[in-house]
Amino acid sequence: MSNTNAPTVYTAADATGEYRDMLLRLMTRQLYAETATAEVFGRSIGVAPTWREKHLAAEFAFEEAQHSQMLCNLLTDLGEDPENLIANRPPAASFWRVDLDNWLHIAVFNFTVDRAGSQQIMEYRESSYLPWAEKMVVVLEDEEEHYKNGVENLREFSSVPEKLRTFQSIYNDMLPITLKRAFGRPDGPDNEFCLRTGLKRHSTEDVINRYMIEMRSYMDPAGLKFPPLERFAAENVELQDSTREILTSLQ
Ligand SMILES: [Fe+2]
Ligand SMILES: [Fe+2]
Repeated sequence: MSNTNAPTVYTAADATGEYRDMLLRLMTRQLYAETATAEVFGRSIGVAPTWREKHLAAEFAFEEAQHSQMLCNLLTDLGEDPENLIANRPPAASFWRVDLDNWLHIAVFNFTVDRAGSQQIMEYRESSYLPWAEKMVVVLEDEEEHYKNGVENLREFSSVPEKLRTFQSIYNDMLPITLKRAFGRPDGPDNEFCLRTGLKRHSTEDVINRYMIEMRSYMDPAGLKFPPLERFAAENVELQDSTREILTSLQ
């Protein structure tokens, strides 16, 4: 489905019309995600149980702030006011539906939400808008470390049955909202436009499934299951059949 023939756009001035509009929508989505994530990690310094965890939280908060700033700069180059955009974002806690005072919530967030963002950024790294694609290389390097820690947290929590049960119930809430916030609708004209213009290289359906399959590879050995399908329906998350299949493979 990918289109490698779409022309590369080298500068902000060359991004025009519908292409610019879609670019702004995608970048705003990422700006929302990066700034909300910076705030979550920043707040989590206070609730992390050990100094090692507090230090990591501070490091991640700084990196997410750097990612946010890159997006601010890119949006400014396109003539937008990033402060104005950020002011319209729901508060971080409700945006990701995470309890910022609960360490288990933060751990589930780190495993779930942060990785969904990375899967999107993998698309942007290959984007036809070169100024953006170039910046995403460093971002993804940081994100690898974040996910490693998320997976480590899952392993640690899953060794205690009671903690795993709590992890599972938070995950059941957080995964559906993550799909909605991080990826958007799995089909429709926007998707086709992104593929045609090279703003993305894979369909949203493919990106979601890639994410789910990666998650499953860490969930399965830890004993974590996908949330029941009703949880996705309750959040009005549109699911393609292929995604449903992955979800039902580990219930
Ligand atoms: Fe980030
Ligand atoms: Fe991250």
